[in-house]
Amino acid sequence: MRPVVIAACLLLLAPITDSWWASGSAVILDPRMICKKNRRTRGRLAQICRNETGLLKEITKGVTLGATECAHQFRNRRWNCTTQRRSMRKILMRDTRETGFVNAITAAGVTYSITRACTAGSLLECSCEKGAPKPRRGRESVTLPPSQVPTERWQWGGCSDNVRFGLKKSREFMDSRYRKRSDIKTLIKLHNHNAGRLAVKNNMKMECKCHGLSGSCTLRTCWWRMPTFREVGDRLRDRFEGAAKVIASNDGDSFMPESPSIKKPGKKDIIYSEESPDFCSANLKTGSLGTLGRQCNISSAGTDSCDQLCCRRGYKETSVRDTENCNCQFKWCCEVICETCYVKRNIQTCL
Ligand SMILES: *[C@@H]1O[C@H](CO)[C@@H](O)[C@H](O)[C@H]1NC(C)=O
Ligand SMILES: *[C@@H]1O[C@H](CO)[C@@H](O)[C@H](O)[C@H]1NC(C)=O
Ligand SMILES: *[C@@H]1O[C@H](CO)[C@@H](O)[C@H](O)[C@H]1NC(C)=O
Repeated sequence: MRPVVIAACLLLLAPITDSWWASGSAVILDPRMICKKNRRTRGRLAQICRNETGLLKEITKGVTLGATECAHQFRNRRWNCTTQRRSMRKILMRDTRETGFVNAITAAGVTYSITRACTAGSLLECSCEKGAPKPRRGRESVTLPPSQVPTERWQWGGCSDNVRFGLKKSREFMDSRYRKRSDIKTLIKLHNHNAGRLAVKNNMKMECKCHGLSGSCTLRTCWWRMPTFREVGDRLRDRFEGAAKVIASNDGDSFMPESPSIKKPGKKDIIYSEESPDFCSANLKTGSLGTLGRQCNISSAGTDSCDQLCCRRGYKETSVRDTENCNCQFKWCCEVICETCYVKRNIQTCL
């Protein structure tokens, strides 16, 4: 009998209604708004705005992809990457590690969305990469991670994700406005955009398909595929945890670690120049919404523990009525019918 997969519980992501990128501020990445403000300029950005509607649509999707992943990665923290516009605007005007993460994941989202559209064939300007991937400049061949080298006979083939095009367009759209500036905040922004893009590029995977009679796999064809965007988010979250604080160098157009004992941050690292607020109480100036009313987890020892999330102010416990699927029956064929039961559950919210 074939196994019947039952999706008992569909987690629907809440739609981002009042999203920060749709706001009118120039600091916030709203593709349409960026285009409006740069209508009179020349260069690649203006060209994209004027002439590449399909691409612009993918860029917008990419920004949303980044925002959604950001909210997922930070759901259990005091700062939860809220889509609330006023708060996000303040976050983006500063230069904390949160700012760095948002900039990195946005650039990654834009790269990802464009690349995916190329593979799907929905952009006129690009397609997937056929055949063997080109080695990086200055190298003879493409180096595979040892875990990805196939053991059988294999060849490049099929349709590889064209990340090169996605990277290029993400750079043109997100960085070109800043290229002429060299203040520390701009340098940090450009660095974090790049760190975000590398989180996509450096985690590409090789996928293969077997050919041969009755699954004998005498020959395999292989191609490159992007990681899932969740994986990109996870990698960038790691970089956020280890983010490096930097200061302006004396030459005025580079940065260096705040303390000489720390090694210079690498290209993949997220960097920042300002300490974060503690995000415990609401503060219009920093964009902190505070944690009053947030649900905490009494059995957790992490960032969502009641102690940490509520900043030691304490919490209150309320009993809520929850619904649950119960008395499920399998009906031939292939349906599962459940009743809805009510269960009582205690939840804790920060005071
Ligand atoms: C718009 O794109 C087309 C095709 O890519 C190109 O030939 C044309 O020069 C572009 N026009 C502008 C104003 O950039
Ligand atoms: C994020 O935090 C804000 C402010 O504390 C809160 O209103 C919102 O419900 C939180 N979002 C999630 C998904 O927990
Ligand atoms: C609370 O934290 C525990 C331990 O980390 C975890 O197993 C549990 O799923 C969490 N509960 C909720 C509602 O997130």
